[in-house]
Parts: sequence; C-alpha cells; structure tokens
Amino acid sequence: MQTIVLRNETDWDGWRRVTRGLILAGVAPQTLAWTIGGEATDATAGSGSFQVPRELVSLAALAIQAREADRFGLLYGLFWRLHQGEKLLGGDPDRDLATVRRMALAVRADAHRMRTHMRYLAVQEGGAARFVGWFEPAHFVLAANAQLIVRRFPDLALSIVTPDGAAHWDRRELRFGSGLRQVADDGALRAWWEAEHETLLRAAVPGVSVPEAEALDEIPRPPDRAPLGPVVLHPKSDPALRDSANEAAGCQRCPLYEPATQTVFGEGPADAVALFVGEQPGDQEDTIGRPFVGPAGQIMDRAMEEAGLDRRMVYVTNAVKHFKFSQRGKRRIHQTPEVPEIQACKFWLDVERVHLRPRLVVLMGGSAARAGLGRSVTISRERGRPMRAPDGQAVFVTVHPSYLLRIPDAAAKAREYEAFVRDLGAIKALIAAEDRV
Ligand code: URA
Repeated sequence: MQTIVLRNETDWDGWRRVTRGLILAGVAPQTLAWTIGGEATDATAGSGSFQVPRELVSLAALAIQAREADRFGLLYGLFWRLHQGEKLLGGDPDRDLATVRRMALAVRADAHRMRTHMRYLAVQEGGAARFVGWFEPAHFVLAANAQLIVRRFPDLALSIVTPDGAAHWDRRELRFGSGLRQVADDGALRAWWEAEHETLLRAAVPGVSVPEAEALDEIPRPPDRAPLGPVVLHPKSDPALRDSANEAAGCQRCPLYEPATQTVFGEGPADAVALFVGEQPGDQEDTIGRPFVGPAGQIMDRAMEEAGLDRRMVYVTNAVKHFKFSQRGKRRIHQTPEVPEIQACKFWLDVERVHLRPRLVVLMGGSAARAGLGRSVTISRERGRPMRAPDGQAVFVTVHPSYLLRIPDAAAKAREYEAFVRDLGAIKALIAAEDRV
C-alpha cells in the first residue's frame, strides 16, 4: 500500500498532479491510501497527460471539498476507470459516480449557504473598514468561496472566519490562517477579533491550493431555501429591530426574493437621529448583506463626512430590501423596482420607522420618495426642503447618491455633488433643530 500525502483538505493541484502521474504509471486505486498534512507526495511517476470530460473535472472540483474522508480515493478510482476506457458519463448508473454527484451537490448547497447566511461585522482597521464574517460550513468550502467572494469585492478588506480556518483579503492578497470554533453572537465575534486579529493576520499564509474558482463560479441555487441564519447588525441596534431583520430574511412578500442572494435590512443604532432611505441594495450590498457598502455608499459616506454628519449616528436602509437585476452574462444589471414592489416592501420600512421613531426621514431618489410620500415625486422640484409625509412624519427629499455616479460630465458631476452636500448640511441643521424642541 502506498500512502499519498496531500497538503490540505482541498489540495486540488496536489491531487490532480498525483492522480495524473500515478494513473499514467499504472498504479491501481486499491494500492493507494490518502492522507492530509506533512510532506506532500511528489508524484512524477508517469509522464504525459490524458483526457477527462470537463463535466467530470467540474464534479471532482466540487466533490474534493466534501468532508467525506474517502473522497480522494473515490475520485482517483473514477479517473482510473476512465483511463482504462470505461464510459462513465451517459452509461449505466454507476454507484461511485452517483456518490460523487451527491457530494458535489452537498458542497454546492453549502457554498450557497455560506454566501447567503454570512453577515459581516464592520470593524475599524487603520481608519478603514474591514468586514468580518463567521460561518460554520458543513464541508471544506471556505478556500474556493473566499476566492470567489474577494474576486467580486476586490476593494473591500474582508475576513471570512470558520471553525476550519479563516481567509483574509487585504485588497492585494488572499491569505489563510486559523479560525474560530464557535461564536455566540456578533459581540463575541467582535471581542475575539479585537483580541486576536493582529496575531491572526500576521500568521496567515498565502497559497492554499483550491479548486479553480472558474469551475465553481456559476453555482446554481439549491431548490430548498433553508432558513437564514442570524443577522449581524449594528452593535447598538434595537433587539426588536434585530428580530424584525431576522424575520425579513425570509420575506417573500414580492417575487424579488427569488433571484436575490438575501434580504438586505437596514442598519444603524437604536437611537438613530435620522432614517436615510435609498432605493434597493446593489450588487455588492446583495452579496455582503449590508446597505450602502458599494460605490453609492462610498460617495454618500464622503458627502456625509463633508457635511459633518456621522453615518454611525443615522440608520440607513432601502425602500426595497432585495436587489432587482437582470443577468447579462456574468454581470447583474440593476433594474428600478416597480411600484407594487415598493408597496410590498413598505411593510418593512414601516417596521423600521416604528421601532426607531426618527426625527427625520431622508428620502434619497424617486423610489425612496415614492415609498415615504406614497406618490410619484419629481426630485428636482421637491428636493432640499423639509416636508411632512401624509402621516405627519418629518421628511426631506434629496437625490440618490447613485445619480451622482452616473453623471458623465465632470463639471456637472461636481456641481451636483456640492448640491448633495448642501442638502446633507440642511439635514444636519434640521436634526439639530428638532433636538432643541
Ligand atoms: N443603492 C441603494 O439605493 N441602496 C444601497 O444599499 C446601495 C445602492
């Protein structure tokens, strides 16, 4: 019996190299034992290559992430039989192939769960935000999915923590290190991160071999929509609002929940002075699970800072809590929500407003204005002055920050940006005035 050592649980490169070499050297599956860790086997026995159907390579790339200890040998056996000339795909039902398919499906479902369940905690790191998420996967899906997530968000510092290990992205390099066994709540995760992050980040290493992200990119949704996990919100968030956020995670009040990754509820402190309402989460918000973290959020943050408004003092949400988009190739293109979608989601906006009782509701753009005022609004005509909603709530209409991003002419863009900062200044003054009453 020959023992083959792989570098880690998802050592796809190592497994492929060894498998190719040993199969070409005629080494039968029953003479091999597979293990993890220590000095990895250098398999240069056979030279050359052989063809494997793409479908089987993709299946293997998923199944190698399964937690079953016999997966390496099982996959070797399938590749061996192909090399012996057996027609595995499209032939009679095969027990080993069926097992591998089951493993691949379980890994897909787990990867999906990881992307939809994980909520991120924003922590400060040298003046910028790092998003830290914790997740307990059933399989070894961390490395491959961390690769996909950071490819999607190259500009965000991210840490994805699991009991098996953690992946850290600092906008340049993906590194892996030790994880965290259990997390009681977001407070425990924050405390652990604050105590350990320097050591963890220093000890993390690059270069964990994982199945190619390409092969995994289009992971279909499993048909069952498992209940969503706990929502990590602002540290000072209202517990009742937190319960509502958990409830909204399963919302099916309109069809937009179906293609979206997750409900993006609002966030901010329980004693927020103002409630800022946008339109709907964008591509990045949909994946991260937090409102206004993408380009629109960045320009909004900058303008707020210039106006002297602290984003941490306000609650930020959207009129519609699911991302509405059309798929064009790999890109998801934003689509404006329809009135019935805004009306269906008004339920959650009202929940947020009832819990927060804000002094002022800021409606950014047409969809937010429609939700807050219950009618269609021409922003250019009604922006920039205090108003009352039909129920008496103090509101203020302004442009949506994405509008600023879309203006092609630089001078016009600068002018509109200044006007937005002026509106935010007026909002700050209104909040202060309400404070004195
Ligand atoms: N645009 C919005 O309206 N909301 C977000 O959360 C992000 C972009």
